[in-house]
Amino acid sequence: MPLGLSSEEAWGARVKVQPSAAHRERTIILSQPPLIFSGNSNPLLADEIAKRLKLHVGKALVTEFKNAETRVEIGENVRGSEVFVVQSICRTPDGNSVNDALMELLLMIDALRRASAARITAVIPYYGYAKQDKKTKGREPISAKVVANLLKVTGSKRIVTMDLHAAQIQGFFDIPVDNLMAMPVLCNYLKKEGLCDEKIVVVSPDAGGVHRAEIFAKRLNSSLAIVFKRRPEPDVSEVTDIVGDVSGRIAVIVDDMISTGGTLARAAEAIKGRGATHVYTVASHGIFAGDAVDVLERSGIEKVVVTNTVPLENVAMHPKFVQLSIAQTFADAISRITTNRSVSELFSGDDTPKIERPVLFPEPVVS
Ligand code: R5P
Repeated sequence: MPLGLSSEEAWGARVKVQPSAAHRERTIILSQPPLIFSGNSNPLLADEIAKRLKLHVGKALVTEFKNAETRVEIGENVRGSEVFVVQSICRTPDGNSVNDALMELLLMIDALRRASAARITAVIPYYGYAKQDKKTKGREPISAKVVANLLKVTGSKRIVTMDLHAAQIQGFFDIPVDNLMAMPVLCNYLKKEGLCDEKIVVVSPDAGGVHRAEIFAKRLNSSLAIVFKRRPEPDVSEVTDIVGDVSGRIAVIVDDMISTGGTLARAAEAIKGRGATHVYTVASHGIFAGDAVDVLERSGIEKVVVTNTVPLENVAMHPKFVQLSIAQTFADAISRITTNRSVSELFSGDDTPKIERPVLFPEPVVS
């Protein structure tokens, strides 16, 4: 932020982005700051993201008609603006369903498009309906593709999300998708807790998570193990095998999401059976469906660490659960998208996460 300027003044100014080592200098004319809007699924996160950008969440009525249909009315002028709508596709502690969240998002995008926003980005910290990303048997839908189609047709020009259940969901869109990672925030927490190097082993709880676990193991300078699981029926998991040495080490299981908690509880049990001294788990999205919290409370897991892509009820009441904020990651991504800078640069490098800068828009200086 240029010294002595408010964020609005700075956005109105001709700003020069200082070159990083990897990027040549370029000048960007920003006529106005981006606008941030939020539905009801994760307003606290939206507010935190906006604050880190030194902006505020725009006025919007997102409620229901008496007949329970979703009702949206954007409360400020968006004509010609770059707009970001923050909304996880998840249920909320106060009773909004996954479908409410999706419908709110779609109607907000439609309203913004009809109100002449210049570019609308759907910021979806948790992309719901991602589990059905292929047909596993006949006569099933591909729900993740349906959601992608709806987002595109209502007017999204870009998607910003985090740790998609399957990275190939990006291919369901013909518009840009920035699939951010919670990895730097989670690794930083683990390092601060001393959970790194040779005393730990990073564990993938299934074959599908091996790539993610490899990235964590590299960042934490640790070895890797893989649990193999099968699902005899939806939402039920069984461990079939473990590859890699966990004996005498602290195991850190890394997953993209916790739904019923069964995957992590079963994996923890199996790993302890193979001689791991303690088990910690980290995951990007804490869905905690059904009795997941009880399942994990009863398990031998020491700590369950998630981010705030999904709002949690009374997380402080459960000492085993830790929720980390990924607002800075999203704020940084929005800052970079708005100023046409690299987003993947946020996740490059082997060690210190680049996303932990205290201020957003830190680099512009008035030329
Ligand atoms: C599996 O494909 C995912 O990475 C997670 O392991 C899974 O979705 C977790 O589900 P649950 O907590 O219901 O076992």
